[in-house]
Amino acid sequence: MTRTFPDGFLWGTATASYQIEGAVDEDGRKPSIWDTFSHTPGMTKDGDTGDVADDHYHRFAEDVALMADLGLQAYRFSVAWPRVVPTGSGAVNRAGLDFYSRLVDLLLENGIEPLATLYHWDLPQPLQDAGGWTNRATAERFGEYATVVGRALGDRVPTFTTLNEPWCSAYLGYSAGVHAPGVQDNASALAAVHHLNLAHGLGVRAMRSVVASTTAMSVTLNLQNVRGVSADDTDAVRHVDGLSNRIFLDPMLRGMYPEDVLDDLRHITDFAFIHDGDAAVINAPLDVLGINYYFPTLVAGTSSGYAPAEGATRYDWNDVAPVPGTDLAYQIPQEGPYTAMGWRIEAPSLTELLLRVHRDYPEIPLMITENGAAFDDVVAADGTVHDADRIAYLHDHIGAVHDAITAGADVRAYFLWSLLDNFEWAFGYSKRFGIVHVDYETLERTVKDSGNWYREVIANHGVN
Ligand code: FCB
Repeated sequence: MTRTFPDGFLWGTATASYQIEGAVDEDGRKPSIWDTFSHTPGMTKDGDTGDVADDHYHRFAEDVALMADLGLQAYRFSVAWPRVVPTGSGAVNRAGLDFYSRLVDLLLENGIEPLATLYHWDLPQPLQDAGGWTNRATAERFGEYATVVGRALGDRVPTFTTLNEPWCSAYLGYSAGVHAPGVQDNASALAAVHHLNLAHGLGVRAMRSVVASTTAMSVTLNLQNVRGVSADDTDAVRHVDGLSNRIFLDPMLRGMYPEDVLDDLRHITDFAFIHDGDAAVINAPLDVLGINYYFPTLVAGTSSGYAPAEGATRYDWNDVAPVPGTDLAYQIPQEGPYTAMGWRIEAPSLTELLLRVHRDYPEIPLMITENGAAFDDVVAADGTVHDADRIAYLHDHIGAVHDAITAGADVRAYFLWSLLDNFEWAFGYSKRFGIVHVDYETLERTVKDSGNWYREVIANHGVN
């Protein structure tokens, strides 16, 4: 029996500029913080960089043909700020904009709806040199950049999302230090949170001033379904939920920061970077909220008796580690089954998360802007990849979205992460999330079993 999705529900895949494009110094692109970080010894697995990645910059036509072959209805890509405004402010690079313009045209010719993310972590390096997301000016530069992209693509792109996972930009970038720019300082991370929120608001406002009123504006958050190890951890759950979810959702959707979270963190920062009037800017009206989900979150308070392993970061999934951005909670290793990332697989947690967001923020429609899994794929002698584990993960998670819709959540789309195997940030090319395999020697693309399976899901408008 097919679990059919509502009419109009869109099926897509997602990617991000630095993870697939390559061509890092072509046609006027200048370095981003991820170029700098990945070229710094010890920061990525095996020293991998995005210099070549999937060479999508040169092969985008082949990739759109693949999307059409898979029957995709929508495609989420990100625009590289350092291609469009190479030094982060000032001169606009026409050649960079032209690349995305050609991509959008080709998608539309193939009946594929584009969803453009403005910022998927590739901050122009000169902005980092001036403080990056700890500097309020970066948010203002983002607003200017949004205007440029809106003018160039707004006539053809029906939906924009401002930021991808500001949680990662702020906490993994400025607290855990496992992502670019590699800073380890909780106060900086909290300043980054606010400036990312502000950038989002300024970006929405800037976009709205140059695009049609029918253009939908969004943001993509990696919201977390947070649980405690025991009943004693209720306050840790409240705290981590606030730090991870409400610190973004409340200003964006309700125009205010959650007081309990600010109170939790006053020993780390005085929040002087929040200026009068910022809340109203951040609260710019949104049409749809993008949610990225991969795994549930388990936490305990720091008085729980757990002790973090020496040097543990958020990426040490098998160790107790400090929750980045705070000194009040630990993330606790979870039981399997796991993906190749060491992430616990638990589809019903996605249903819980969607219903929670629907309950607490009922007015905003939702879309899944990322969901998927890395597994250690084996390429068979004939070049095919029989990735039954990925199919099972996707089947169960798409089913979990269906469960949420059945229970009342207004979910409009599902973007599978990812179309292609790609540069998985600090893990380099060691983790494969694609439904299309990429041979990094030849750059040849081969549809995995999961890709063929997803084609059927789209054709049937649901899963069995
Ligand atoms: C998300 C990122 C995306 C990808 C997936 C696996 O956090 O947005 O770029 O790395 O994780």
